[in-house]
Amino acid sequence: MKYSEYSVVVIGSGAAGLYAALKISQQIKLPEGILLISKSSLGISNSIYAQGGIVGVVHQNPDDNIESHIKDTLKAGAGLSDKKVTKEISEASDVVINDLINNGIEFDKDEQGNITFTLEAAHSIRRILHSGGDATGKGITEGLARAVRADNNIHILEKTMAVELLISSDKECKGVIIYNKQTEEHEIVYSSAVILATGGAGQVYKYTTNPNGATGDGIALAYEAGAVIQDMEFIQFHPTALALSPDSKNRFLISEAVRGEGAKLINNMGEEFMIKYSEKKELAPRDVVTRAIYTEMQKENSPNVFLNATLIGEEKIARRFPTISARCRENGIDITKTPIPVAPAAHYTMGGIKADVEGRTSIKGLYAIGETACTGFHGANRLASNSLLECVVCAYELSDYLSFTNLNTPNVIDEGIKKMIDVYSRSISGEEYNSDELKSELKDIMWENVGIIRTEKSLFKAKEEIEKLQKEFKRRRKCLNQGEYEYRNMLTVASLIVEGALRRKESRGAHCRKDYPETLPEGLHSNIDKLNEKGLCYVE
Ligand code: FAD
Ligand code: SIN
Repeated sequence: MKYSEYSVVVIGSGAAGLYAALKISQQIKLPEGILLISKSSLGISNSIYAQGGIVGVVHQNPDDNIESHIKDTLKAGAGLSDKKVTKEISEASDVVINDLINNGIEFDKDEQGNITFTLEAAHSIRRILHSGGDATGKGITEGLARAVRADNNIHILEKTMAVELLISSDKECKGVIIYNKQTEEHEIVYSSAVILATGGAGQVYKYTTNPNGATGDGIALAYEAGAVIQDMEFIQFHPTALALSPDSKNRFLISEAVRGEGAKLINNMGEEFMIKYSEKKELAPRDVVTRAIYTEMQKENSPNVFLNATLIGEEKIARRFPTISARCRENGIDITKTPIPVAPAAHYTMGGIKADVEGRTSIKGLYAIGETACTGFHGANRLASNSLLECVVCAYELSDYLSFTNLNTPNVIDEGIKKMIDVYSRSISGEEYNSDELKSELKDIMWENVGIIRTEKSLFKAKEEIEKLQKEFKRRRKCLNQGEYEYRNMLTVASLIVEGALRRKESRGAHCRKDYPETLPEGLHSNIDKLNEKGLCYVE
């Protein structure tokens, strides 16, 4: 097997991975350079689809303050957000967002040249910066990708997937095994620091706003390596994804900012209904709006409700929501005149690899940032636009931390690593699975049984069916193609979500157990250590 050596390996090219690679290169002189691996083309990720914006308690917005942002975040998090982490991230936002601006990222401004701020659900004031109206993710990701491509210290490998972490016998991360989709070859990359920035796992659900690549790979890899995984039961279902037909599964998002600017939800009878569910109506926390829509859909036996954006006015719609207007127009909907059919879809993975704000995980040498990580910032329900903020703050803080770390540790290839390399050196025989079909079966199970509303019965049903799929797939460690690797990882992540959901015998934030309607007063994180050696691990 071919091998290479880098001081730092960054896996993933969304906002977290791109910004981490850039900051590390700007801050640290590295003898062996930085490798950035992405299974997509550079920048293709959840990040690029972000619409609403990025939270920033910045000096350009004197009306805002840290305490107010902390209060809103903790309230949305339903007693599970970590206060210390929330404070650290909020306090860092001014420096980090202004560093993005200094690195060429542009946010929308008014005619006087002042940054404009929008409002989203459960924020008590306008504090969300946006770019290109409703194309914030594109603005940030494309700007960072340009800077990364221009940086000679960063070696980029696109269409290349990380498939297993190299863990030494003394449980340190020493690198990663990668699979090149084009050459169909596996390679070993040794490194003193491996950074997982692989995003979320929306694709384990039938309906999702996430693109195809969001299969939770980083979470599965870290789990198999023995890292602690936290809060996987908390999957955020965005209330308003464009619901053209039950067959449209990867759903285009209709940003919360549309409600922030005055759009109203109506049922099939044309009646506004949010007041029945929350005095905050359309601007209640996301989980509340999602359950309200779900209830209306059940009552009417309908696949969607509607979002009436005509109330916003043509001029504002054109200026603030050009991407959403264009996408709806392509599908025959003029949003200045007609209500938009919407329904909830899996959107954000609140849980993930337990990490601190500097990205440190429970394994030495392994770091996790962005949606794949769980710092405790989002608790049981993420506040809108806090995610991009967490991505960039943790990337920034990690780079700072690494600048004080020895990144030149020699690679000792011990017995543990030798064994792993052995598995990937052998050729494998056997049928090639139809991974699209298998993924689709898993997504149906998750949507039906581990979705917006859960019960012990539905969760046990999912557990049983997933175990059956795992047996049929024979938990291949080395796979034949990217689709198989993704399916392998999705099975692990789905099991972790079910495990977390079964353990949490209460309703809290995005986790709604019909059989346990009460939220207990104190939140406790659900840490999942590797279940046991025979549990979810690969069998040869
Ligand atoms: P991603 O941006 O998802 O990037 C992950 C990267 O890792 C990708 O490049 C992927 O190809 C790569 N990758 C994955 N697995 C592997 C592997 N095994 N090997 C190699 N590479 C791999 N948040 C906000 O704060 N504000 C918003 O307005 C907002 N709007 C959103 C709208 C939509 C439609 C969606 C889906 C999300 C939105 N979010 C928003 C959430 C936010 O965009 C994401 O949480 C955030 O961008 C995640 O960034 P990331 O860098 O952690 O992961
Ligand atoms: C949106 O624009 O509604 C999504 C914002 C987010 O996910 O934070």
